[in-house]
Amino acid sequence: MDNTQIFIIAVVVIAVFTIGGGVALAISLYQANRLIIETVSVPRSDIVQDHGGHVSGLGETTRADKWWIEPLWTGFGFLCFVAYANWAGFQGEHYWHGSYLSPFYSPVLFVDLSRVGAAPLEHAWFGIWPDWIRQIWPPFFPTSPAWLILAGPLAFRLTCYYYRKFYYRSYFLSPPGCAVGAMPSNIVAGPTGTKQYKGETGLFIFQNIHRYTWYLAVVYIGILSWDAFISLWEGGEVFHGRIGIGVGSFVLFLNPLLLATYTFGCHSCRHLVGGRKNSFSGKIGARIRFSLWKKVTWLNQRHMLFAWLSMIWVGFSDFYVRMCSMGIINDINTW
Ligand code: FES
Repeated sequence: MDNTQIFIIAVVVIAVFTIGGGVALAISLYQANRLIIETVSVPRSDIVQDHGGHVSGLGETTRADKWWIEPLWTGFGFLCFVAYANWAGFQGEHYWHGSYLSPFYSPVLFVDLSRVGAAPLEHAWFGIWPDWIRQIWPPFFPTSPAWLILAGPLAFRLTCYYYRKFYYRSYFLSPPGCAVGAMPSNIVAGPTGTKQYKGETGLFIFQNIHRYTWYLAVVYIGILSWDAFISLWEGGEVFHGRIGIGVGSFVLFLNPLLLATYTFGCHSCRHLVGGRKNSFSGKIGARIRFSLWKKVTWLNQRHMLFAWLSMIWVGFSDFYVRMCSMGIINDINTW
């Protein structure tokens, strides 16, 4: 597959995501515009309320604040990340520079050495890209190691309680905000005829795997920390190459650090550390757990912040390694 074909495929993938995002963005903008006109500027006494003291209908609310700003920027921001991550994953090249490995490609399970900027063979866990994968690999997909490891981090992020909150709000409008009317399809009549929340059943039951994907995320932190350590050795030759440090090393060290702040602030982690206990006093073990629980709680209270920081930084880390590998950025280092 030549560069032109890869470029065309990448454009198609980005276009698909952009169109999907465009629709979500258009709905958000439409709602924002309508709510500015109707919710903010219309006197509250004009709003007709149905039973229960709530206004009804999509986007209807008695809130006077600009509640739509958050779902708008989070929806758009995540879309930008998804577009970049897909483009970068599609390249299959320029993910290695000197001793730097892009986190989008880590761990490298198999390497296709014919690709420019591919990782050295000794950094691929299982060696050369095997023929059996080539045979089942879609012909229009570049041989990119990123696709082989994407499912792990993706499963963790997409089932995160915070991510669920924002994408239900931004993309599904279900509801778009607290005390704001949801899409009619998300309001289900219960047996008594009352409105009932359907919950994460049916298609969304997979969200329950989150607590298990947390363990996977912890393993990834270990792997990415090792990558950061490797970045200190010229050519990635641990204990053999010259040791030094470059700007890229800082970038790659910060990456697992931010991921740790996000992962260890996870609600599942908080339960793991402090849950299922009636008392934190008494034995030494209970007091250690209490101390850990307080630290995890501190992170948990900033979970949204660390979710964004870690996501932006993982994207930036790929960008930095990619730019260095392509010769666009000259990495400053001591080697
Ligand atoms: S709740 Fe967000 S990572 Fe677990």
